[in-house]
Amino acid sequence: MQAIGTIITTPNGPSVSEFSFVITNTNIKRGEFISIQTKEGLLLGNVTNIYKTNKYFESAGAVTEYNRCSDLFSAFPVKEWEYTIADAKALGVYTKDGMLIRPSFPPSPGFTVTEIDTAVLNRFLGLDQERGLHLGEVQQHTLPAKFNLTRMIQKHLAILAISGAGKSYATAVLLEELLNRKAEHGRVAVIIIDNHGEYVSLAEDYPDKVQVIKAGDVKLAVSKMNEKGFAALLPKMSPVQVRELGKVIGDVRKATNNSFSLDQIFQAITDSSMGTTTKEALTAWLGELQSMKLFASADWPNTSTMLQQGKMIIIDFREMLSLRKKQLIVNYVSRRLFDLRKQGLCPPYLEIIEEAHNFCPEGTRAEYALSRKIIETLAREGRKFYANICLISQRPVQLSTTALSQCNTQIILRVTNPYDIDHIKRSSEALSSGNVDIISSLKVGEALVVGEAVNYPVFVKIRKRKTAEKHGTSLEDYSIQYEQEKGKKLAKAEEFL
Ligand SMILES: Nc1ncnc2c1ncn2[C@@H]1O[C@H](COP(=O)(O)OP(=O)(O)OP(=O)(O)O)[C@@H](O)[C@H]1O
Ligand SMILES: [Mg+2]
Repeated sequence: MQAIGTIITTPNGPSVSEFSFVITNTNIKRGEFISIQTKEGLLLGNVTNIYKTNKYFESAGAVTEYNRCSDLFSAFPVKEWEYTIADAKALGVYTKDGMLIRPSFPPSPGFTVTEIDTAVLNRFLGLDQERGLHLGEVQQHTLPAKFNLTRMIQKHLAILAISGAGKSYATAVLLEELLNRKAEHGRVAVIIIDNHGEYVSLAEDYPDKVQVIKAGDVKLAVSKMNEKGFAALLPKMSPVQVRELGKVIGDVRKATNNSFSLDQIFQAITDSSMGTTTKEALTAWLGELQSMKLFASADWPNTSTMLQQGKMIIIDFREMLSLRKKQLIVNYVSRRLFDLRKQGLCPPYLEIIEEAHNFCPEGTRAEYALSRKIIETLAREGRKFYANICLISQRPVQLSTTALSQCNTQIILRVTNPYDIDHIKRSSEALSSGNVDIISSLKVGEALVVGEAVNYPVFVKIRKRKTAEKHGTSLEDYSIQYEQEKGKKLAKAEEFL
């Protein structure tokens, strides 16, 4: 491998954990992996910092004097004394028999630092070149960033970044990988909660594999819910009310052979022998749900059959304004699918939630966070049942810590808000402070992948999409379109009023 530098003596090293080297190849960048042949074996390192030094500029007094005499720079060989030095962290040693061990002895000053062999790096990072999800390229190395499916999603995934950093783009790349996956490599079903209809165009690219469901058309089946399901939608119901509702549902279920509507529950409450206060309270609670016009006797799409391996369901929330309704749908669908999964009645799946802070917020009262509990349950227990979630958010600080800390793989693109950075740091043990510094300076499409999917945090340049990205209409075009359609829309609104 090509030599890139030589280890030097510094006040702190070389030590078993860190060392510095003077660079002879200036292409080297922060975050790059390097190797050194030592007596123990092949020592791997990661460049944590790069800086320049020049002995002519070490003393403030001397520099001031140079500046006073006009032409001193040309009188001394100043440029020849400029060096670039890299600090590196020692990561481990591959011994001669191929074992990865902790370095127990520092590399000596004078040892040559070389580029890392890509096969060694691949093994060290734990990538899966054969069957992995090809999300991009490992930065500074010509190594495809292919992540093992199990390692990337089975302990849940979070994609975090500021707005415009490339979360949805990276998600579309992940979806391409999941949809193009061969059956013999193991395929999961995918469902995506698409707040802005950003993924809808994938249905044109994969007409046989992607189905778009408009959120406004979704119906929730009363008959597939029990009292706990209702309690999750109405968190302020008292335990007594929940218990009474359970009895009523049980009776109606028996009487109707499992096919009933909300009206039938109302009737059964009226006819029951429970106290008037409980009756009135239950009628009011369920009335609140009925007014949302979401419930029917059967659900649509049919949650029992909608998931299929290698295929995707997009729930398009673009035209739905009510956050409460959105949360109700996410709650119902997530609960149903998890229940089915636990019984082995639906395929292993990945549920992707865009704008997850809206569905699983931190600190918000339960009645305004109707889907939080089930998402937290999925985050905690889902992996044992192959029910996996992927949370996407531009406001990690507003995302439930319980859920986020269970997302064992994180794809972090550019994040600038110090509170968000701090929140991410607290939710991920694998992040070092050096990496945290870099995430605020990442460019669009550059990501740090940390956690379960990799043995060591790695910077990845997300690859280009294979499917065409549908750009939104420009402000000019949209304004023209709006002006042309304004008359029609106003007439419709007046008619409605
Ligand atoms: N890996 C990439 N390669 C090329 N272009 C990219 C890449 N990632 C993002 N972009 C560009 O940046 C734009 C913004 O990306 P994207 O919509 O994914 O951001 P986002 O993080 O989802 O933002 P928001 O939080 O507002 O939803 C995209 O329209 C795309 O053109
Ligand atoms: Mg987005």
